[in-house]
Amino acid sequence: MRLQDKVCIITGAGSGMGRTAALMFAREGARVVVADYDEPAGRETAELVGREGGQASVVQVDVSAEAEAKRMVDHAVETYGRVDCLYSNAGIMPEADHSVIDTDVATWDRVMAVNVRGIFLGCKYAIPRMVEQGSGSIINVASFVALLGCSVPQDAYTASKGAVISLTRSLAVQFAPRGVRSNAIAPGPVETPLLMDWLLKDEQAKRIRLARNPTGRFGKPEEVVSAAVYLASDESRWTNGSVLVVDGGISVNYF
Ligand SMILES: NC(=O)c1ccc[n+]([C@@H]2O[C@H](COP(=O)([O-])OP(=O)(O)OC[C@H]3O[C@@H](n4cnc5c(N)ncnc54)[C@H](O)[C@@H]3O)[C@@H](O)[C@H]2O)c1
Repeated sequence: MRLQDKVCIITGAGSGMGRTAALMFAREGARVVVADYDEPAGRETAELVGREGGQASVVQVDVSAEAEAKRMVDHAVETYGRVDCLYSNAGIMPEADHSVIDTDVATWDRVMAVNVRGIFLGCKYAIPRMVEQGSGSIINVASFVALLGCSVPQDAYTASKGAVISLTRSLAVQFAPRGVRSNAIAPGPVETPLLMDWLLKDEQAKRIRLARNPTGRFGKPEEVVSAAVYLASDESRWTNGSVLVVDGGISVNYF
């Protein structure tokens, strides 16, 4: 198994790609910490993992709150004795996030708090444990929107995902000499509640995204999570500072 006995914290594991990740990581032998703001959803994920014979425990966390992020990492260490992977997948994309000219400050700040501060705080507490162990894998979830402009703007979200990529590169350079690799995944539009809830209300946004994707379809959660399985495993031991774009080719499509 590709992740045998690795202790993997997955944030946002109560839904979408995070839930799929909990299941796929556990199938590869990982001991999974299901970290989500929505505790019942986190419990449901852990139950699904357990039903398949996998190992998972749950921690309720708002990744944007420092004390809670610390508690999340402490929970992993107290439960399983170590942290091999921090997969920072939790992210938000509020409806009120549009162009800079019509986005309110509270929406901007909330997006930055969850999508960027959340990753900062998880890393702040997980990386020192990984450095002590001499090994670890940081996986940060960005988005294809960080790589190109979008005519259906979500400027706070886009800026937050750009920050995720920049931070990942800085971490990769700082901590690889001490055994901790850092990489980002930039998914294209994937069929999860986060995107589908939004697109249901915006037919035009849906049409644009489908028309521009050379594969003609949205991605499936497992098609993105398989990149994370690779990054969490020792197969990626020389992959550091990369941004794995998993988007069906949407970001290389000129026309
Ligand atoms: N779905 C897509 O098309 C798409 C595309 C590119 C990038 N992404 C990114 O992938 C990641 C996962 O997206 P998804 O579509 O699976 O999302 P989702 O909305 O299905 O799930 C997100 C999970 O994060 C949790 N969460 C939200 N705020 C939190 C907080 N403060 N603390 C802890 N948990 C919190 C939610 O409760 C939810 O369970 C996000 O970072 C998202 O930005 C998604």
